[in-house]
Amino acid sequence: MENAEKIATRHVLLLTCNGIGHINPALTLATKLASMGLSITLVVPDAASFSLVASTDFQGLPITLTKLPLQDHGQEEQHQQGWTMEGLRVAVRSGYEWPSDYSRQKIALAALLEELKVSSSSPCCVIVDMILNWSEELLVKTGLPRFILYPAAPNYLALSLHARSLYRKKLLPVKFPGFETMKVEGLLPLYRRDVPDAMTDDGHCLYPLHMGFNEHIISSDGILFNSFTELEPELFKALAESFEEIKHHELLPIGPLFPSKYFTPDALNATKESSVLRSSEEERCQSWLDEQPVESVLYVSFGSWALLTPRQICELALGLEASQQRFLWVVPVENKSIEELEALLPEGFLKRTEERGLVLPGWAPQHLILAHSSLGGFLTHCGWNSTLEVITLAGVPVIGWPFLADQPPICRYLVDGLGIGAEVLGDDDGFVDRDEVERGVREIMESPRAEGMKSRAKELQAKARRAVAQGGSSQKNLEAFVARIKSLLV
Ligand code: UDX
Repeated sequence: MENAEKIATRHVLLLTCNGIGHINPALTLATKLASMGLSITLVVPDAASFSLVASTDFQGLPITLTKLPLQDHGQEEQHQQGWTMEGLRVAVRSGYEWPSDYSRQKIALAALLEELKVSSSSPCCVIVDMILNWSEELLVKTGLPRFILYPAAPNYLALSLHARSLYRKKLLPVKFPGFETMKVEGLLPLYRRDVPDAMTDDGHCLYPLHMGFNEHIISSDGILFNSFTELEPELFKALAESFEEIKHHELLPIGPLFPSKYFTPDALNATKESSVLRSSEEERCQSWLDEQPVESVLYVSFGSWALLTPRQICELALGLEASQQRFLWVVPVENKSIEELEALLPEGFLKRTEERGLVLPGWAPQHLILAHSSLGGFLTHCGWNSTLEVITLAGVPVIGWPFLADQPPICRYLVDGLGIGAEVLGDDDGFVDRDEVERGVREIMESPRAEGMKSRAKELQAKARRAVAQGGSSQKNLEAFVARIKSLLV
């Protein structure tokens, strides 16, 4: 009996970090693990995101929330507010330093670990976000099995491990152009523009950031990926066979990590209550979408923190207008007001496009939009969450406009690997002109190639849903993981 009780209350410490693209998958994972008989302490950063997490309804599941301090660092604040692409480029050229002093978090984590060690239910394992490499030393000292939650694209792990081994063989660094294509096991050949300079040049100020995550991943016991095997089978095969550093790890694709309600036949209704928008704005968005023909609307969004410059916003607007397609575009503006939008957009744009366009200031209920039957395409920065969401909730073609990190390789795979999209190309400074926008939009919304993209996107959507259903690959991986945790001695 005592043993049975112990097994029933296996306790897992789950550490996530700031950024909605990291927090959301961690929340879903916490909920899934708790509903499978584990108790969870979920550690989140003390920021605006904490209140978002704290307001989540865990439906009585055994999930305890605790917070760590955010870094007291001006640049960290800048990172939270978002960067324009131009601003980031300028910052990088002038030697931007990623925050590297994590002493406050370390002190807080050490205190938490001490507290948990002497509590009645000390954790039997730790799951930690891929970017929290500062926590490695403290977590290793606990002697607990340590798993990485990898919410970014798995191809990014392959790319950074490949770059790491090239450095060791002294084949890197290389300065631009250096190479035309790069071949990484499990990935399609990447063009020079798909590989971040920060990975190939150790003098780059973001190099420590890009490469720093590798070591705590390599020293971990396993990796939980927010992906599913059928989405990128060659990549998962390569990660398990060809990357010496991790090939003996447990490598478990357990995604897409969205709340289970999104996998019901009535996903649209399920999304209605999940929005972080005020309900009047959400209703406005919903009723506008309801009035549009099926599969006719292009959704335009660049994720949670990358911002376009005012010049680029105007050019994008003119490209959208020229394409003659219906669109729903979310433009981040500080006070979420129409006046701010009018000041940013080309004169008369809102009036000229009011019959077929809706521009939302600030933040959009993305899940609701992607699950709506009027959605026909998505112009995206190719963040991994947005990518999984369009595949799973919408099953429509995409236009990739990647910005940094894992986004360019994700875009390459969506376009050349899965055949569900087109990409738009910028000039040397990344500026995309209106003709290129129009070309990309027409290609996925009305060109002869669009039908093929659409049917491949629908097939992929069905595979994503199967992966998390009973007996699906991700569900089986998660069950195996939970069984392993339950078998651990405390
Ligand atoms: C960051 C990195 O840029 C990305 O490359 C990495 O894979 C994850 O972290 P981010 O900008 O957060 O990406 O994009 P993404 O991963 O797509 O996540 C954005 C999330 O915010 C999505 O879940 C999306 O649904 C949500 N979102 C975004 C909204 O709900 N409304 C919005 O208006 C914008």
